[in-house]
Amino acid sequence: MAYLETAVEVAREAGALLANFFERRIPFELKGDFDLVTEADRASERLVVERLRTHFPAHGIVAEEGGGHESASEFRWYVDPLDGTTNFAHGFPMFNVTLGLERAGEMIAGVVYDPIRGEMFTAERGSGAWLNHRRIHASKTQRLADSLASTGFPSKKRHQNVNIHFYHQMAMASHGVRRTGSAALDLAYVACGRLDAFWEFGLNPWDMAAGILLVGEAGGRVSDMAGEPHTIPGSRHILADNGLIHEEVLELFGEIFRGSFRNPIPVIA
Ligand code: IPD
Ligand code: CA
Ligand code: CA
Repeated sequence: MAYLETAVEVAREAGALLANFFERRIPFELKGDFDLVTEADRASERLVVERLRTHFPAHGIVAEEGGGHESASEFRWYVDPLDGTTNFAHGFPMFNVTLGLERAGEMIAGVVYDPIRGEMFTAERGSGAWLNHRRIHASKTQRLADSLASTGFPSKKRHQNVNIHFYHQMAMASHGVRRTGSAALDLAYVACGRLDAFWEFGLNPWDMAAGILLVGEAGGRVSDMAGEPHTIPGSRHILADNGLIHEEVLELFGEIFRGSFRNPIPVIA
């Protein structure tokens, strides 16, 4: 499909630009108290939006740094020109550029590109999920107790975020919980079985658009925190996993929401 091919081409070009900035260790600015942005975020967004506008002038574009394009078209791109900015700004090599295409409320194509590892994750509705042209599948892990999970914490209003409770309970219930600093890669890693589950509160549609299609096409399951359907652009909270442990995670989350904790956080003596 021309949409996916173009998205791959654009992601590769933007990824090369990010890798180039990364080697130069450029300075960052603050958008909010702990919300970092760099020249690389802006340059990548300009490039992606310009290419999409050239190829698909009628399509709408929602891009994180505000350089999008409003349109009445049923096609809308969600663009995160640099997902993992905090990692990027500190020289921690875990970031990506991601583009997802929605058509009338349904994600139809998505790309997550990690230029450091040269990993291009792609998905098209109904055609499976792929990593560098090889088909990928969600893991076969049957029990939460045998799983590896990942989560994230927001950079805005972070003192209001309740996720530390979920982090603790999930860490106690599984082999462990990673915090990669890149939500789109977390989802791509669920799609290829490197992670069994990922959850986060308060994400934006550009963080998840491509990743939820990847997980669905890889045989995994995506929902909100209560097991209800996850929608783009409406849902901010996400639980994505291999499908096999979904109910078990929802049960644990349900307990936490009700204020009941299987494992209390240890008190410092
Ligand atoms: C962030 C990353 C991070 C997640 C944050 C996001 P950004 O995106 O995906 O992993 O925990 O919630 O905001 O700001 O680097 O594009
Ligand atoms: Ca992001
Ligand atoms: Ca970003």
